[in-house]
Amino acid sequence: MERIFGRPIVTQEEMRARIKDLGRQITADYAEKDLILVGILKGAYAFYADLARAIRLPLRVDFLIVTSYGSRSKTSGKVKMVTDLTEDIAGRDVLLVEDIVDSGLTVKYLIGTLSKRRPKSIRVCSLLSKPERRKVDVAVDYVGFQIPNKYVVGYGLDYQQKYRNLPYLAVLDTVDDEGQGF
Ligand code: IMP
Ligand code: MG
Repeated sequence: MERIFGRPIVTQEEMRARIKDLGRQITADYAEKDLILVGILKGAYAFYADLARAIRLPLRVDFLIVTSYGSRSKTSGKVKMVTDLTEDIAGRDVLLVEDIVDSGLTVKYLIGTLSKRRPKSIRVCSLLSKPERRKVDVAVDYVGFQIPNKYVVGYGLDYQQKYRNLPYLAVLDTVDDEGQGF
């Protein structure tokens, strides 16, 4: 049984305004740097497209695809990169763009893997963060919205690969594998 709550928890207008702010902040912070925006697919695709256009710098774009296998709506803890970057990040300033930092395992894994390629810096920008769910300590340098411990969909985030195209963020009215938070 899947049902979307009628009322979005973050509206399109709120998204737009917050992403503009993040873009302004990143533009200032990376003015003298060699920025490469690394999108973590699939979840980050919607946020990424908006964020990249809110940053007024001649940045590079690149993407990677990760899967966390195991159950469908929670992170299993086993993160795997299934598609790698096409650009060289050595000596460049990498900003990872993520949809949501939940347990923190995905971001921790990627920072570990990508750091070995000797980027000049590596930081994280996530549209959403659920601090209550953190299992590992990761620094999220830019956060769009901190949200409570609820399973959300839309704006790139899925439930069993659906709802990514919702233009706002909504709480999914169903029960996940851990029975958490609905
Ligand atoms: P982490 O590795 O536990 O931090 O999880 C990160 C990934 O879990 C995200 O990139 C999402 O794909 C997924 N995820 C965590 N919470 C949610 C949610 O509320 N809705 C949809 N996907 C989620
Ligand atoms: Mg994801």
